[in-house]
Amino acid sequence: MAHRGASEDAPEHTLAAYVRAIEDGADALECDVRLTADGHLVCVHDRRVNRTSNGRGAVSALELADLAALDFGSWRDSEESPDWKDPGFTSVLTLERLLELVADAGRRIELAIETKHPTRWAGQVEERLLHLLKRFGLDAPAAPGESPVRVMSFSARSLHRIAYAAPNIPTVYLMQFLPLRAREARLPAGARIAGPGIRLVRNHPSYVERLHAAGHQVHVWTVNEPADVDLCVSLGVEAIITNRPRQVLSRLGRL
Ligand code: G3P
Ligand code: CA
Repeated sequence: MAHRGASEDAPEHTLAAYVRAIEDGADALECDVRLTADGHLVCVHDRRVNRTSNGRGAVSALELADLAALDFGSWRDSEESPDWKDPGFTSVLTLERLLELVADAGRRIELAIETKHPTRWAGQVEERLLHLLKRFGLDAPAAPGESPVRVMSFSARSLHRIAYAAPNIPTVYLMQFLPLRAREARLPAGARIAGPGIRLVRNHPSYVERLHAAGHQVHVWTVNEPADVDLCVSLGVEAIITNRPRQVLSRLGRL
């Protein structure tokens, strides 16, 4: 699963990064979503646009037109990498555009959408997300296993909102640290899949075994080192989320 697209090779969360990930053979794409001041879901990781664009300010305080005027590519320019100047590929990416890209890919590409919290638009993020998924016919899969979309979050409340409104969309509870009651391997209400970070997996591989024994899939982020890929394979995790989809596929013997 390509984390923010093929984000090692192209500016994260841009069309360029997602097109590269699809070309590289990724099975799935990961993206973070935030709501603009005028109600559009855009693919941006940070609360503010300062790190990944030539602008400043919080996504939640900017309108889509403000974001569309910014350059989300040039910050990655360097002597080694090409110029990322084509605004068609490096301007702000809406979730709608990403859903179109996936729909037109010509093969099944799964999408893991992470709702970012805290945000001043709590609740509205999930409402807008479900509205958009409905437009693409993705809000009510016949069964969770048939859904090409899943929703991820560190916020149990966000996942609960999704699970309540769209019970067949799989939800992934992201974890950075070992939960207090890890021995029970129970996820919060509304969460179906466990999403531990690689450091947690390295330090507590038996937790992955307990999650599996409790019937949960385990999707691990952000796995970039070959040894960590091997660890994930040995533990039988169901998804490897990486900035380097091509290298991971190669390690898995799929290229
Ligand atoms: O896939 C989950 C992972 O993306 C969570 O961390 O900070 O990269 O959004 P972050
Ligand atoms: Ca993320």
